[in-house]
Amino acid sequence: MSSPSAGVNTRADLDSLPNYVPGRSVPGAIKLASNEVPGGPLPSVRKAIMEAATQINRYPDMGATALIERIAGELDVPAERISVGCGSVSVCLQLIQAICDPQDEVMYAWRSFEAYPILSQVAGAAQAPVPLGSDHRHDLDAMLAAITPRTRVVFVCNPNNPTGTVVRRAELERFLDAVPPHVLVALDEAYVEFVADSDVPDGVELARTRSNVVVLRTFSKAYGMAGLRVGYAYAPAHVTAALRKVVVPFSVNGIAQSAAIASLDAKAELLERCAEIVAERGRVRDALLEAGFEVPETQANFVWLPLGDRAAAFAEHALERKLVVRPFQGDGVRVTIGTPEENDQFLEAARSF
Ligand SMILES: Cc1ncc(COP(=O)(O)O)c(C=O)c1O
Repeated sequence: MSSPSAGVNTRADLDSLPNYVPGRSVPGAIKLASNEVPGGPLPSVRKAIMEAATQINRYPDMGATALIERIAGELDVPAERISVGCGSVSVCLQLIQAICDPQDEVMYAWRSFEAYPILSQVAGAAQAPVPLGSDHRHDLDAMLAAITPRTRVVFVCNPNNPTGTVVRRAELERFLDAVPPHVLVALDEAYVEFVADSDVPDGVELARTRSNVVVLRTFSKAYGMAGLRVGYAYAPAHVTAALRKVVVPFSVNGIAQSAAIASLDAKAELLERCAEIVAERGRVRDALLEAGFEVPETQANFVWLPLGDRAAAFAEHALERKLVVRPFQGDGVRVTIGTPEENDQFLEAARSF
């Protein structure tokens, strides 16, 4: 008997495509697995969401004009250089689709954001992962050496997910100066608001004067809007035009657009929350070091425990104590910084591992 799908072929290469593994949500457990912030929406953002909800019989503004104008104003850049997408993960995909022909190469450090290989393959591009250095940081020299005539996009995730490590101004400027002009460097700054090290450059400043640099940012992390899905790119105008061409129409919905604007209105308050996370990050890392763990210096809202083959066992141990963390088996465990109470509970679990 033929199966209901007989005759329909899906892409054979999808069999080798890894699934994106979201942080698990376990009822009754504390979730420290998805790099979310612990604070819920501010009253002003909630109000904007409620008001926008009355309009959902209408399509949203497809060009997200007000939001784009607002982001451009915040960054002091022309609006023609800003594009938005359904989370910055979608903007990553748009970027590959806008730049790469089949088999052009997308380069990224590994391990880094797990979506890079998936999105590259979905878009039909070839992948060029370059191992992180022994210090869990991007090895920019190795990346430079690995660039070929087929390399079209290089992601530099700063701070890097999942290790939290950063590339600093001097090394990044040296890298950007050396990258050939046919290569677009995407500075993925999903966690930029948690950076406290003044030697870490602001990608927007670097991109202002360079014609092959894109900056990707998101409202999901510091702005507390992971559930509403808005990310954006600051790119050269012709790249922005291409990003807008490949976007799925209406993919940033009206509630998300309004909430993002309201979040920018509440920026000071939201960034104060980030400062609390940064303080907690220092406390958590110090306690882990004291307990004997290796923890690379982190500038993001998470810590990385390079536990290798013990990663899954650590996650299991944490889950038994009602804590969901994010294991990358064989490599390590990423733990998001939560509230002080949540972090205390995590530290207790870590000490008993
Ligand atoms: C480095 C990095 N870039 C991009 C994203 C995507 O975020 P979003 O699609 O929620 O904007 C994430 C989310 O985890 C991330 O870690």
